[in-house]
Amino acid sequence: MIQAPRGTFDILPEDAPQRKLVEIEAERVLGAAGYRRIETPTFEATELFARGVGETTDIVQKEMYTFDDGGGRSLTLRPEGTAPVCRAYLEHGMHKLPQPVKLWYLSSFFRAEAPQRGRYRQFWQVGAEAIGSDAAETDAELIVLLADLLDTVGVRHDRLRLSSLGTPATRAEYREELKAYLHAHEDQLADEVRNRIDLNPMRAFDSGDAGTQAVMRDAPKLLDRLAPDDAEHFARVRALLDDAGLSYELDPTLVRGMDYYTRTVFEFTSDELGAQSGVGGGGRYDGLIELLDGPPTPASGWAAGIERMLLAARELPQAADLVDLYVALATGDGARTAFDLAVEARRAGLQAQLELAGRSLKGQLRHAGRIGARYVAIIGDDGVATLKDMESGEQHDTGVRDVIPEILRAGRVL
Ligand code: HAM
Repeated sequence: MIQAPRGTFDILPEDAPQRKLVEIEAERVLGAAGYRRIETPTFEATELFARGVGETTDIVQKEMYTFDDGGGRSLTLRPEGTAPVCRAYLEHGMHKLPQPVKLWYLSSFFRAEAPQRGRYRQFWQVGAEAIGSDAAETDAELIVLLADLLDTVGVRHDRLRLSSLGTPATRAEYREELKAYLHAHEDQLADEVRNRIDLNPMRAFDSGDAGTQAVMRDAPKLLDRLAPDDAEHFARVRALLDDAGLSYELDPTLVRGMDYYTRTVFEFTSDELGAQSGVGGGGRYDGLIELLDGPPTPASGWAAGIERMLLAARELPQAADLVDLYVALATGDGARTAFDLAVEARRAGLQAQLELAGRSLKGQLRHAGRIGARYVAIIGDDGVATLKDMESGEQHDTGVRDVIPEILRAGRVL
């Protein structure tokens, strides 16, 4: 039997209501703040991600599904949504619109990662991007919106980690300072940290080794090295989050997987998720639009994984499927009448299903009960139907033509 590729999954009918709820809530929460929906293509020119996300990132180096389009052009299944949205912003001249342009999306993304619970090779994100504003209010608003979305979807135990990365220049200087500090304490570091000082000094902050942790307690922190205007911007984001009553942890070791971030970065995590604890995250990316040949344009945004949100959410109330009318057949003769009645019922706004499997009358009634039908119309001869109220058990004969008006008169119990 052919199976779905490793790290992918089917979204079955029983999974659909929860996912629909996330979509409805995203539309409501983001729509109320002026975000409008955008969808970009599933694949893009590889160069968009190489340039936008960064040549040296894990995503670009190891995780992209890249292929030749048959004409010598390299295409890639989108691993993330920010670079594509910025591409669309430029391609459609959105920089000429009143700024910021606020956009949201709900799409699937592709990363060739090692699959595990909460980590897939095709997964879904809801994301929001505000392009054309450098205000701290934009960052704070985005963070509050994500918190609200997680709340309405019922994501439990979320923590918000917050930091600022300053500018690329500040970061480069800081990296050198950190490398020098680590080299000066080499003898106290774990082997794997020592071997990676020049490659990835920031990793030292995540080490579980006691000696390394002791060294890192006194290590220089990027947050203490921010340029004055970056530090001021970050202080303002924090003050706005305080005003909004949102608690957060300052985490100077917060690293994100893309090179485009500047200034504010953040991540919501949930204890429900185990190793893959990130539910949603993002930050400011003031240099990205320019990197994609656009005018200097500040921007900020986030994305949250739908599967991780649902894994971390408490059981959501399931809306029961409604079936107002089940059209059953006493004999084979009424088949066309039954078909017409089901069509008419749907046109009248009722949820109606028709017997399609050739069951006995007893089997039809049992099936109608199983799918939760409120009424069953059993089509008899000469335009007569027996209308049965499945809840009370009451039944009476009526004209086929009167079935719909009778159900409509009884009203729908929601
Ligand atoms: P990201 O942190 O790479 O950011 O992904 C955002 C969210 O997508 C994660 O928090 C996680 O919930 C989900 N996610 C990522 N990879 C996987 C996976 N392999 N399986 C399941 N879920 C996953 C971005 O993608 C940025 N574009 C966010 C952003 C928008 N920054 C600024 N604007």
